[in-house]
Amino acid sequence: MTESRTAVNEALAHNGHDPHALVQILREVQAREGWLSRSVLAQLAGELKLGLAQVEGVAGFYRFFHTRPVGRYRILFSDNITDRMLGSAALMADLCARLSVGCGPTRADGLVSIDRCSCTGLCDQGPALLVNHHHVVTRLDADRVARIAELVEQQVPVSHWPSEWFQVDDQIRRADVLLGLPLARGSAIAAALARGAQGTLDEVVASKLRGRGGAGFATGRKWTLCRDAPGSAHYVVCNADEGEPGTFKDRVLLSRYAHDVFEGMTVAALAIGARQGLVYLRGEYRFLLEALLDILQQRREQNLLGDAIQGHAGFDFDITIRVGAGAYVCGEESALIESLEGKRGTPRIRPPFPVEQGYLGQPTTVNNVETYCAAARVVVGGGDWWARIGTPQSTGTKIHSVSGDCERPGLYEYPFGTRVGRILEDCGARDTQAVQVGGPSGVCLSAFEFGRRIAFEDVPTAGAFMVFDRTRDMFEVARNFAHFFAHESCRFCTPCRVGTELVLRRMDKLAQGRGSRHDIDVLNELDTLLHATTHCGLGSASCNPLRDTISKFRPAYERQLKSLYFEPGFDLDAELSIARRMTGREDAGAYLENPP
Ligand SMILES: Cc1cc2nc3c(=O)[nH]c(=O)nc-3n(C[C@H](O)[C@H](O)[C@H](O)COP(=O)(O)O)c2cc1C
Ligand code: SF4
Repeated sequence: MTESRTAVNEALAHNGHDPHALVQILREVQAREGWLSRSVLAQLAGELKLGLAQVEGVAGFYRFFHTRPVGRYRILFSDNITDRMLGSAALMADLCARLSVGCGPTRADGLVSIDRCSCTGLCDQGPALLVNHHHVVTRLDADRVARIAELVEQQVPVSHWPSEWFQVDDQIRRADVLLGLPLARGSAIAAALARGAQGTLDEVVASKLRGRGGAGFATGRKWTLCRDAPGSAHYVVCNADEGEPGTFKDRVLLSRYAHDVFEGMTVAALAIGARQGLVYLRGEYRFLLEALLDILQQRREQNLLGDAIQGHAGFDFDITIRVGAGAYVCGEESALIESLEGKRGTPRIRPPFPVEQGYLGQPTTVNNVETYCAAARVVVGGGDWWARIGTPQSTGTKIHSVSGDCERPGLYEYPFGTRVGRILEDCGARDTQAVQVGGPSGVCLSAFEFGRRIAFEDVPTAGAFMVFDRTRDMFEVARNFAHFFAHESCRFCTPCRVGTELVLRRMDKLAQGRGSRHDIDVLNELDTLLHATTHCGLGSASCNPLRDTISKFRPAYERQLKSLYFEPGFDLDAELSIARRMTGREDAGAYLENPP
């Protein structure tokens, strides 16, 4: 039997010949083979009784799958703005030069390929890179890059590289009820069993807990809708895709608080009547998989998963982990379900919502990692206790992934209602110009707004908190985000596919000094268009950074209009300072645009 046939057979056997596990099967075959040849895809199609076009479509969708040979060492530099601020672009150029390979193509001898990927979720310890979609190297510097080049040339297996390079720290800087109060193993399940399914739901409703994945939907309501929806089975899904650049709190929750996450999922299962749970772990967090599988096994041995949990006849529940393959859009819950079913991660038309027809067409509750941790606490402490923390509309605490220009990046947990300025003080940020809250899809706050509060009713967030001091060019920040959205568009609907690309081109044109005011007007029009016409939240949020930075940091854009302003004798900084004095506003570029 050939090597590739063995790899295919073993991956199929490992996944029970289940076509819904196609993404996992492709991952496993590629991990052995290095890439996915047409003959491998054809063999998989035959064995799984799927069309070849379908299997090829799935393999072609995910960025971590390769349908052409790639380097035996496949190196991906995290291209988040915070990695860039820490020098990732120069380090990548250095590695490319040392290994005589460009960014993108594979070296002629097939040894190595180097490219960029979206955020790896290691912004508090970047610059970071991924090797062979499995290993992460943190805290890159010139010495590490030089050594990596040597190890690759000497063909040293990645598993023999210095182990300290792979160290990922859980930098917990401020802990509150989620990160600070230990949750005894099994205590949330015991509390839920004591309360019963309805009593458990009642507590979650009373807590007014809202989802931590971004949209802030009421968790108790979601679980109630799911429980009440008819179906032959109900499913609990944990969204551990965490693809929003600048967010890494779920990584820490999974690495240090995985029992709490699984406890929360088990409580949800009792409340909605589910027997199966699935965790969708982003491909970039593949390095967490073995530890998570060990914890699941421990929980089975402790009767916290499996049949008759904690001796309660009829309460049967178990959890499977599925690993993604590098597609940010799969964080969107319906795309995530498609991916769980072994398909391309294209968002579904909603309604029906997942609570009615989710995984395999059955009622499914999809919640964020942090939401499950919070739910476990709610069941132990009671809904009223949780509702007393935070604000009336945003109860409990929120964990922030703080990165960028500050002395102490890492996780900070605060009650909702905390001022942005307080977080900046605590993380040691100085001379801060802007904070991007909630990642590129979120909101960019200028210094005038640091008195605002983190809460669904003021500044909502999914968890990213990226700090930019006054040395940073906010136009470049927005341009990096424009690259991100264009790169991550799933290309299903035309407004997003074309619109994100047009935005990117205009931004690049401005960056090259070839832009005019007309380009800024066009960017505004594209923002309106994308906001109104795209199929899912990725497209509609893609111009948020653009809109915020154009309105709040207009001078950063004005500086790009070299052809207009940099005529002989024009002194932009002098003009801006006059404008600032006259208007009393930091964003005085708007004044320059329309002088009285
Ligand atoms: C493009 C896109 C990406 C998303 N990525 C994530 C993600 O990585 N993690 C997450 O929990 N929710 C993400 N969401 C939100 C999910 O669709 C969904 O609202 C969430 O998982 C529900 O969980 P919650 O109620 O606990 O917040 C994303 C949404 C969109 C539109
Ligand atoms: S908006 Fe973008 S990401 Fe969403 S479905 Fe359309 S193309 Fe895909």
